[in-house]
Amino acid sequence: MSHSFSTIQSIAASTFRATRDGNTTISKDSTGRLKLEGEAQTESSHPEYLPTWDTTEHYEPLSVFDHVDPGTRADPSFPNLLPADKVADGTIKNKRLTPKFGNEIRGVQLSQLTDAGKDELSLFVAQRGVAVFREQDLQNLAPNEAVEYSSYFGRPHIHPTSGAPAGAPEIHLVYRSKNDSVYESFFKNHTSSIAWHSDVTFEKQPPGTTFLAMLDGPETGGDTIFADTVEAYNRLSPAFRERLNGLRVLHSAVNQAESSRAQGGIVRREPVENFHPLVRQIPSTKDKALFVNPQFSRYIEGFKREESDFLLKFLYDHISLSADIQVRASWEANSVVVWDNRRTLHSALLDWASGESRHAFRLTPQFERPTESLEEDAEAKAEA
Ligand SMILES: [Fe+2]
Repeated sequence: MSHSFSTIQSIAASTFRATRDGNTTISKDSTGRLKLEGEAQTESSHPEYLPTWDTTEHYEPLSVFDHVDPGTRADPSFPNLLPADKVADGTIKNKRLTPKFGNEIRGVQLSQLTDAGKDELSLFVAQRGVAVFREQDLQNLAPNEAVEYSSYFGRPHIHPTSGAPAGAPEIHLVYRSKNDSVYESFFKNHTSSIAWHSDVTFEKQPPGTTFLAMLDGPETGGDTIFADTVEAYNRLSPAFRERLNGLRVLHSAVNQAESSRAQGGIVRREPVENFHPLVRQIPSTKDKALFVNPQFSRYIEGFKREESDFLLKFLYDHISLSADIQVRASWEANSVVVWDNRRTLHSALLDWASGESRHAFRLTPQFERPTESLEEDAEAKAEA
C-alpha cells in the first residue's frame, strides 16, 4: 500500500484549498467564520450543508464516556429494520453485494427507524460491514437534526480539522466544487488516489456505525471502496493470529493537524495519539477484526522500527491487495452509505474530471474504546 499518509492528506487538504475556484470564493464574517461565496452557494442543492471554517473555534480534549454498543441490544432477526412481510412482498429489497461483505437496500427509510430499528441497523452493519441505502430522505434533515439522529448511536464526534455547516460542528463534510482542479493537480504527482483508512482512529473511542449521505455528486465516479478487516483477520493462519495477540499500535492525529495548518486550514482540537490493540473484538458480533490503517497507525509498541514497518506493510498489503474481501459502493442521488468503522477500511476514489461537484455529509458517532478480548475485559472488571 503505497498510499500513505501524504496521499490522503493531499486530497483532504484540498477540501479546504480547492473549494475555491474562479467562481467560488471565501469570505470571513464578523464572527471569524470562513464561508464559501458565489457559485458554490447558488449551485448546491443543500447550501445549508456547505462547509464553513470557524477560525475562533477551539475545543478541549475529548473526555472518556461510557458507551453501550447499540447492536448488543438488537433483535438479530431484524423485525424493525427488515420486517419479514415487507421483504416477502418486495417492498424492501435487500441484496448482498458479495457473499460475506456489503449489502444494497431499497425500501427502508433510515430517518424513520425506531430506536429498536436503529439498534438493528447497528448490528446489521456490524455483521455485513457496509450497507448502501438507496432513495433516502436523511438529506432533508437540517444539520442539527442530523446530529441529533446520529447521537442515538454514540457521542457525535467533532472532527479536529474539517469544515462544518454553520452551527453544527459535529458534521464532517466532504466537498469538492464544480470547477476545482484537484484532479489535475493530484495526478501530477501521484499514480493512484487509493488511500485506505478508517476514520479518526487516533481517538481513544473511535467511531462505530458511521453514515455518509450524498447531497450532490457526479453522474459517475467518486465511488467509495471498502475492505473487510474481519475476513482479513480470519484469512490469517492460527499461528499468525496468535502472534498478533496482545500487540498494540499507536494511532496519531499529529500529521493531519500539521497538514491542515500548513494548508491554511483550522485545528479545532489539539492532536492526540492513542494506543489501540492491533486486533479488536466487536461487542455486538464477537467478531475479531484487524484494526490498523496506513493513514493513522504509526508503529507497533515494543517492536523495533524495521520490525514494525515490516509487519504493518504485510497487513496493509494483505488488506489492500485482497480484492476478494472488498466491495465498491457506487453513489446515486440520495444514497446513504452506512459502515462499521471498527471492522472496515475504506478509500474514496478521485476518478472524475468532469466539472461536476461532489458534496456529502458524514455522521460519526463515537463508540467503545477498542478491546482485543471482551471476555478478558469482563474478567478484569469482575476482579476490580
Ligand atoms: Fe474516511
